[in-house]
Amino acid sequence: MKTIPEVILNELTTYGQSHLLKFWDEINPAQQKDLVAEIAAIDWSIIGELISGKSSDTSNLVDVAAMQPPVAVRSDGEGVSWTIQDAIEAGEKALSAGEVAAVMVAGGQGTRLGFKHPKGMYPIGPISGRSLFQVFADRLRAINRRYEVEVPLYLMTSEATHAETLRYFSDHEYLGLSPSSVRIFKQGTMPAIDATTGRCLLSSKSSLALSPDGHGGTLAALENSGSLNDARLRGIKHLAYIQVDNPLAQLCDPALLGHHLLAKSEMTTQVVKKRYPLERVGNVVRVGDRVHIVEYSDLPESIAQQTGSDGELRFWAGNIAVHILDLHFLDRCLGQVTALPFHRALKAVEHLDAEGAQVKPDEPNAIKFERFIFDLLPRAENALVVEAKPELAFAPVKNATGSEVDTPELAKQAICKLHRQWLRGAGVKVDETTKIEINPRFALDPSEVATRTHDLMHIAEDRYFDCESPEKLSNLH
Ligand code: UD1
Repeated sequence: MKTIPEVILNELTTYGQSHLLKFWDEINPAQQKDLVAEIAAIDWSIIGELISGKSSDTSNLVDVAAMQPPVAVRSDGEGVSWTIQDAIEAGEKALSAGEVAAVMVAGGQGTRLGFKHPKGMYPIGPISGRSLFQVFADRLRAINRRYEVEVPLYLMTSEATHAETLRYFSDHEYLGLSPSSVRIFKQGTMPAIDATTGRCLLSSKSSLALSPDGHGGTLAALENSGSLNDARLRGIKHLAYIQVDNPLAQLCDPALLGHHLLAKSEMTTQVVKKRYPLERVGNVVRVGDRVHIVEYSDLPESIAQQTGSDGELRFWAGNIAVHILDLHFLDRCLGQVTALPFHRALKAVEHLDAEGAQVKPDEPNAIKFERFIFDLLPRAENALVVEAKPELAFAPVKNATGSEVDTPELAKQAICKLHRQWLRGAGVKVDETTKIEINPRFALDPSEVATRTHDLMHIAEDRYFDCESPEKLSNLH
């Protein structure tokens, strides 16, 4: 390639970004081709609006003064006219009818965790060392077996995690899932913009400084990868969404699905009571009849600290990023360009300066744009908030060993604690110091544990329950 394609040149000129071609004559034809492809993949009209600050839609921005605590189905079932059992039955019916697919977002790089691979590959099994991906694959296999279905898994990666994730799945025989029911696809990217000039940054002479477009990119990526179409063809009606970084996430939980169905909700979100006011979780709130999530970084501290007359936090509901989304709702949102606004974050971004020298800034110099999937909540009719007990549903793996919160060690302890309780509930005596890990393919929930451990009396040593058939249990004690 020698000459710059006219359409590219025109577009960049319109949006004041022609500096991106400054090094055109210094790069080889293959690099020129890559650069053109990167530029062509960007929706410059959106970038133009974001830079000019017009970025059309502000309806998702929450007026903090109007915020109320959310109306929620509480963990004991209070708050709705149906029982938890009704919800479980409704959810099980949808699962058995093959109406549910799983969506897992795994585009994050685990930088805070200090892990050099996709976060989903992190060995989280306290005894088994199973990866986060394997934990969820086992859960899906157990669900498939119980409901005699094949729940498709739509797994979103990013530029940084895609190739390794694909390799991991194919090297490990799709972790026991049927390859035809697993779709692994990449999320989109957004260019980083110089915070003072509004110009897109180059990371090299032939490439832009790009970063993932946030988990809100799931919507477009599901559509662009053909996954939504796959779901439509399979007769899927509901998507059960989780983040890969929470090994206790109850993917495809029948009760959550059932609450969603009985409330005729288009989007449901599971929450836990925040452990402390400034916990780094999104705050699930209500404004009028709409549900919103306000990120921890956007909630003024004085409001986060507010308590009610019972002494409890007023804004108590923490986002654990477990959602149920209806397919017809997503189809509607896809038609609305502004359904998901972009959030801006000021970050230090490495780039080339005007002379082509590499710059590694110490201070934030650029704006990155991300969409958040939970900004769909205020768009949903009858959006529902359902509380879960944190010890059953939330053990985020965010920070490296040694940090105070959200470390792998704490998540492993939470898994062991929960599984000890399951066994105790089944009448087994379990020493407090033992590590216990139960593969969902052995037992998916406490009642299944009870049916599979009648011969077991006492556990005094660490034990991993991974076998599939009850007969094998005799080897375990
Ligand atoms: C996120 C939520 C927060 C919630 C918390 C629960 C946001 C903005 N905040 O915070 O409300 O309480 O999780 O654990 O999401 N991801 C992608 N692509 C991206 C960005 C993220 O796939 O472009 C995935 C990551 O792999 C990860 C998840 O989304 O699994 C969360 O991302 P992270 O940046 O760790 O969010 P938090 O700040 O922890």
